[in-house]
Amino acid sequence: MKLSEELLNNLIDITSNSAIACYPYIGKNEKILADKAATDVMRDQLNNLNINGKVVIGEGELDEAPMLYIGEILGNGNGPQIDIAVDPVEGTNFVAKNLPGAMSVLAVAERGNLLNAPETYMDKIATGSHIPKGTLDIDYTVEQNINIYSEITKKKNSEITVCILERPRHYEIINELKKLNVNIKFITDGDVSGALLVSDKKFNVDIFMGIGGGPEGVIAASALDTLNCNMQGRFLFETAEDKNRAFHMGIKDLNKKYEINEIVKGESIFCATGITSGDLMKGVVKENDKFITETIITHNKSELKLVKKEVSLT
Ligand code: FBP
Repeated sequence: MKLSEELLNNLIDITSNSAIACYPYIGKNEKILADKAATDVMRDQLNNLNINGKVVIGEGELDEAPMLYIGEILGNGNGPQIDIAVDPVEGTNFVAKNLPGAMSVLAVAERGNLLNAPETYMDKIATGSHIPKGTLDIDYTVEQNINIYSEITKKKNSEITVCILERPRHYEIINELKKLNVNIKFITDGDVSGALLVSDKKFNVDIFMGIGGGPEGVIAASALDTLNCNMQGRFLFETAEDKNRAFHMGIKDLNKKYEINEIVKGESIFCATGITSGDLMKGVVKENDKFITETIITHNKSELKLVKKEVSLT
């Protein structure tokens, strides 16, 4: 195992501390300040680690993000060569409005094993580990995918739940799901969590589908892969500039459909701390002289584990 237990524990500390840094901004309608507070802490603390880290999923390209930009080298250079995906605040609106589901996220893999994703949208589909690989497909119609799922699981359509971001771009899919009498779990933001809901029956989500952020797609894939779940993704580009950027990041086939093991390879760690409480974990709680955080982690084909931490205020 190249990614050590020590690194895993360090990542838990870092997402906990970046979630705590956001705490003063919960419900303050200040999503930029919240993101900056979390980003500053995450960057400082990653820079103190014994790693030779490279940001592959970050806050943007260097010209638009001075911190945790794509390509930034992090750590003291003395440890393993790793790729790092950062999302200091996944669900900035949730923090701003004090709504459920905001979290601070890090994912790492050995160098070269995490897809370098451009700041563009990605069409995604994900299912749990009980579905054989290569059965559902983003290129199938909604009806085909539901039929396949129903046949494999022996569930009636009325027993199937699909999670999707509530966006006008999804009206067609949503209408189709309604016609098929499938249940829908709408999310208003936060499609990393949305995708992770397929990982355990207790969340009561069978399929995640629809278009969300590309970077979020890679981050979700890093967790779903260690949990043995299924995911496919395809980047969507709106402008010639987007296409050009992606091409220069090494994406030569702009229409490529990525299987999960083309998004993340080998060993990886996914680590996310709740900022506000959501389906996956509780948010930051301040109690007397300490903060209490909840973090979910997966590493090397392990289950999704929940880690509670107490961090003293001083
Ligand atoms: P931020 O935390 O960066 O605001 O992203 C939230 C999010 O909902 C992601 O989870 C999702 O992938 C993306 O925005 C969807 O983008 P859009 O709001 O443009 O549909």
